[in-house]
Amino acid sequence: MTQLQIFLDIATEAALAAGTVLMDYLGKLGETITEKGRPGDLVTIADKTSEKVILEILSRHFPQHSILAEESGKLGNQDSEYLWAIDPLDGTTNYAHQYPCFAVSIGLLINGVPQVGVIYDPYHDELFRAAAGLGATRNRRSIQVSQTTELAKSLLVTGFAYDRRETTDNNYAEFCHLTHLTQGVRRGGAASLDLTHVACGRVDGYWERGLAPWDMAAGIILVQEAGGKVTAYDRTPFKIESGRILATNGYLHDSLSQELMETLPLLISL
Ligand code: IPD
Ligand code: CA
Ligand code: CA
Repeated sequence: MTQLQIFLDIATEAALAAGTVLMDYLGKLGETITEKGRPGDLVTIADKTSEKVILEILSRHFPQHSILAEESGKLGNQDSEYLWAIDPLDGTTNYAHQYPCFAVSIGLLINGVPQVGVIYDPYHDELFRAAAGLGATRNRRSIQVSQTTELAKSLLVTGFAYDRRETTDNNYAEFCHLTHLTQGVRRGGAASLDLTHVACGRVDGYWERGLAPWDMAAGIILVQEAGGKVTAYDRTPFKIESGRILATNGYLHDSLSQELMETLPLLISL
C-alpha cells in the first residue's frame, strides 16, 4: 500500500466517524447554536464534537503532521510538509435547519498542494475519495466530470460567503449574470459538496470567493482526479490562500472564466 493510500484510508476512517457524530446530533442541537462573529456564521456542538473525533484519529496516526481545523485553528508541527485541512461540518447553516446538504471534509496538502481528499455526506451516505494519481471515487466507484461543452447547456453551482453584506465583491452580480447564460445556477450551501458535484458530473462548473482552505482542500483533488480543472477565476494557477476558486469539467473553463472576469459588481446598497 502506498503512503497516499494510507493517508486516504485514515482520512476515510476519520470522515466516517465524524459523519456518525453529525447524524447523531441532527435535529437535536437545542441551545447549542451560536454565532462565531459575522451574522449567520454559526457553530454548534456538532461542529465541535465532529472536529474532536477527527483530530483524535489524525493526530494519533500522524503526530508529526500539521493541522488546520476550522474550529481549533493551527495544531501540530507547523514545520511539517504535511498539512491536514479539516472542515468538521461544511454546511452548518443547512445542518442547523435540518436541510440535508452538509458534509465532513478532510484534505491533505503536501508542500501546499492538495494530494488527498475525503468528503463524506452522512445524510445520503455518499463517500467521495481521491488521491493524486489514484483517481476519484463515489462510494468506491470511479467518477468523472461531465462532458458539457456549452455554457448554454450547463448547470452550475456557487455560494456566497459570510462577508456578503460587507462588500460589493459578494458574487451577486456573477450569480445573476450566469443564471441568464446557463440552464441554472444552484446554491447548495456546502462548498465541499459543490466540488463533489463537479467531480461526479452532476454540475458542470463551480466558482466561489471568500472560502477557507478547509472548504476546498479535499474537493480540489477530487475534481482534478475526476478529470476536471481548478484555477483562479482568471485561469492563473489556483492559490488556496486566495479563497477564490474556479472548478469545472475543463470544457467550460475558459468560457466561464471569461464571463466571471467580465462581470461588474451590482450597484445595490449594502
Ligand atoms: C460555508 C459553506 C458555504 C460557503 C461558505 C462556507 P460552513 O462553510 O461551505 O457553502 O458558501 O463560504 O463558509 O461555515 O458551513 O462550514
Ligand atoms: Ca465550510
Ligand atoms: Ca464548517
